[in-house]
Amino acid sequence: MSYQNLLFQVRDRMAVVTINRPDKLNALNNAVVEDLGRAAEEIATRDDVGGAIITGAGPKAFIAGADIGDLSKQTPFEGKARALRGQAVLRRFETCGKPVIAAVNGFALGGGCELAMACHLRIASQNAKFGQPEARLGIAPGYGGTQRLPRLVGKGRALEMILTGRMIDAEEAYRIGLVNKVVPAEKLMEEAEAMLKTILAMGPRAVALAIEAVDHGMDLTLDEGLLMEANHFGLLASTEDMKEGMAAFLEKREANFKGK
Ligand code: COA
Repeated sequence: MSYQNLLFQVRDRMAVVTINRPDKLNALNNAVVEDLGRAAEEIATRDDVGGAIITGAGPKAFIAGADIGDLSKQTPFEGKARALRGQAVLRRFETCGKPVIAAVNGFALGGGCELAMACHLRIASQNAKFGQPEARLGIAPGYGGTQRLPRLVGKGRALEMILTGRMIDAEEAYRIGLVNKVVPAEKLMEEAEAMLKTILAMGPRAVALAIEAVDHGMDLTLDEGLLMEANHFGLLASTEDMKEGMAAFLEKREANFKGK
């Protein structure tokens, strides 16, 4: 598949998606969102891809938000359609059945912060900055920020970021639980790849069902969530991977999972 605004590279079962519009700080115009949608689908469907890392081109930005030039022209119905389209693309990364890590290399603002939050894990470089500055523009977050940010950092902190538009640095993002890890800029991709490699060494079916249980469980009652978890637990007992994982432990060797 060919892309206009992003690079899609696969090595060692890891897809590295680089949003490639550095002169505009990788702002999400319609074409980038379209490319991202195709990238999410490619990650979900390619057998040689076990998981993905999303990052931004250039030293300055992961993504500095939706493209304000595009936003400035939208009518109410175009605005709604834009939000729904962006939400669907981000949700596809979240539900692609494979682990997706955001390697946040600079500004992650508005839609950039929202894309990072739709990833399963976030690693930030020390120079990363996060924010939901939409209210400064007279709009509110539209790509899931009002929903995922409170789920990650709590309602009070989320509202503070959304209502004041204040940018926070990587250390603060780590302290409030918005990112999993902060690393020096020059180590960002190495650390993201190491984390993804660790996950790719696990049973792929187990990883997919654990992601699904956590994702769906957030919206269920405790009893409903526990039942879903028990069903997944039972289902995994039908896999060759479960037999392999336990045999490997008992035989004191590394497991060789096949995803079956
Ligand atoms: N949409 C469109 N273009 C954007 C953009 C966005 N969200 N963010 C940055 N750009 C463009 C700038 O217009 C500029 O383009 P130009 O060189 O053609 O003038 C280029 O990217 C570099 O940005 P610049 O503002 O000059 O860099 P800076 O280092 O001075 O500031 C930011 C960096 C991130 C603080 C600033 O660009 C910014 O506030 N961006 C908007 C963030 C935002 O509100 N995002 C949410 C949108 S809903």
